[in-house]
Amino acid sequence: MNEPINLFDPKHFEAVRRPLDEAETMPPWVYTSDEFYRREVDRIFMKVWNFMGHVDQVPNPGDYVALEFVGVPFILCRDENGKLRAFANTCRHRGSKVAIGSGNTKEFMCPYHGWCYGLNGALTATVDMNDTKGFKHEDYGLRPIKVDTWGGFVFVNFDPDCESLQSYLGDLPDNLASHRLEDMANTRVAEFELNHNWKLFVENAKESYHIAVVHRDTIDQVVSVHSADYAVSDSAGQYCTTFCTHDGSMALLKTDPGFPAIESLEGRYRKGTYAPMIYPMTYLACTVDTAWFLQLLPMGPSRTKLIHGACFPKSRLERPDFEELAANYYKRWDRTIMEDIVAGDHQQAGIASPFALPGRLCFREPLVHEIDNWILDRVLDEPTNANG
Ligand code: FES
Ligand SMILES: [Fe+2]
Repeated sequence: MNEPINLFDPKHFEAVRRPLDEAETMPPWVYTSDEFYRREVDRIFMKVWNFMGHVDQVPNPGDYVALEFVGVPFILCRDENGKLRAFANTCRHRGSKVAIGSGNTKEFMCPYHGWCYGLNGALTATVDMNDTKGFKHEDYGLRPIKVDTWGGFVFVNFDPDCESLQSYLGDLPDNLASHRLEDMANTRVAEFELNHNWKLFVENAKESYHIAVVHRDTIDQVVSVHSADYAVSDSAGQYCTTFCTHDGSMALLKTDPGFPAIESLEGRYRKGTYAPMIYPMTYLACTVDTAWFLQLLPMGPSRTKLIHGACFPKSRLERPDFEELAANYYKRWDRTIMEDIVAGDHQQAGIASPFALPGRLCFREPLVHEIDNWILDRVLDEPTNANG
């Protein structure tokens, strides 16, 4: 299906806006178009709280890491007082990146002409600038970027006028209070390259329809779609979520041993897995003994980087058998992630065909419909939500 001239004409999306049982899937070109992707960057990624991994990346004063998200380089660092900060990684002289890589420092010295910035972003030293009329150091600090944390996770927002992270997440922190995410350590991150659009991976992460096929030898053996009922749960915040009830851990293969359940869990969280997708694209899964995240970094319409992070209660790290048991979880995650990546890469190849057309949704895909409509609410000028 070829890309139309006016991509954002609401008429292209009328069928996506219908109620689930009458709806069609997104037009195939939303997963391949450069122009649609640019609109997502402008209207979504530049405006929302984006997940940037675990606070363990910069544990101590002076620690920094140079990151990049949708083409925006920025520095995440901890100042002398231990406060987490973020700055645009763009020198105020002639624009070079100021910080490269990661490390521990007292200041950032631009690698081009040597302008120096403190850990609070202030321009502290320059060379030979005395003849430059009206030039004042205080006018040329690194531009700050909003940064906040929840549950040991870092979020940044490129919009200086954004709502608070607390308001963005709504009741999610309350729902996950008994998991005590802030008392967990991020014990491993693993990176994967996806040859598909970020939306395909997100849609996959929040539907159970594919589990019996794609994960027939892994997840389906432990938590099958028929036994566990991946039910949509209420969400009052910028996320959607499922809860599924099951025995054992969602994060292990059938016969593998693991850690005991998280002692602080309460109510239903002792008996299953709560798996929110924080819009636009961060998947968290919180099961009885561990939590994991899937962080997506879109690299264009058909390429995405995926970072998987494993989190366990800090007390587990003191066990002599920690590495041995944790390896069972890593094995399960690596296997199921590859199953999903292969599925998404096949889907991208099929969807890029001129013969691809919109399809229809199964009742097991309500969140695909919800996610797609959340995106359309932001990229289109005039929402035409037939659901009211
Ligand atoms: S570009 Fe940074 S000092 Fe010149
Ligand atoms: Fe999957």
